[in-house]
Amino acid sequence: MIGLIGGSGLSQLEGLILEQKMQRETPFGEPSAPLMIGRYADKTVAFLPRHGEHHTIPPHLINYRANIWAFHQLGVEQILAVASVGGITEPYMPGTIALPDQLIDYSWGRESSFASEDFSADKHIDFTYPFDETLRQQIQLAANSEEMTVIDGGTYAVTQGPRLETAAEIQKLKNDGADMVGMTAMPEAALARELNIAYASIAVVANQAAGLSSHPLTIEAILDTMDDSMGQVRRLLKGVIPL
Ligand code: HPA
Repeated sequence: MIGLIGGSGLSQLEGLILEQKMQRETPFGEPSAPLMIGRYADKTVAFLPRHGEHHTIPPHLINYRANIWAFHQLGVEQILAVASVGGITEPYMPGTIALPDQLIDYSWGRESSFASEDFSADKHIDFTYPFDETLRQQIQLAANSEEMTVIDGGTYAVTQGPRLETAAEIQKLKNDGADMVGMTAMPEAALARELNIAYASIAVVANQAAGLSSHPLTIEAILDTMDDSMGQVRRLLKGVIPL
């Protein structure tokens, strides 16, 4: 079974034929919502909206451990995580979709390991390549066969939120080598790696990051762009799932 995590703009998975809603407590508390299990593009999937069913959980308060553990309890071995991001470098313009291959974590204070309470030296994971390469390639292939353009690669900077960044922060992230900025890839990606779940992110560029555009940054514009892109994201998800 494949796991899908919906981000901003994807709190409901239209087209999912729901078979079961799993309200599961985990050893790490409650996931953002009951996991929704059902048929999507003729495959069984488990869907979880990261911010809750009604988008009420901000990025810094998401129980990432409970979310990833809930997938693990179901036997999920691959997660496609949809996330909205701000674009920093040139090709990452609003409306584009990217498959990041690197990340830099600037978030803080989030529970970021399943081993916090029970640590031993063997629990340091290799995180050189934080996104699963095979899964990234599967998404790329699905994009090709759907004749969709997605940007293959890029560095995703993870900020704490929930506020957007300052112009100076974005310049710093750019100098650091970031191509896009979002608030949720960490600790999600690392937690999946701890459980050997292949994890890839489908990053939807919703806006140019702070200070990069001559237009003011408005949430309305961000949400509009997300809305426009979700049809493409659904097509992409449906294309990947049968692989
Ligand atoms: N910054 C951080 N996260 C985001 C942004 C942004 O500009 N846009 C969408 N998610």
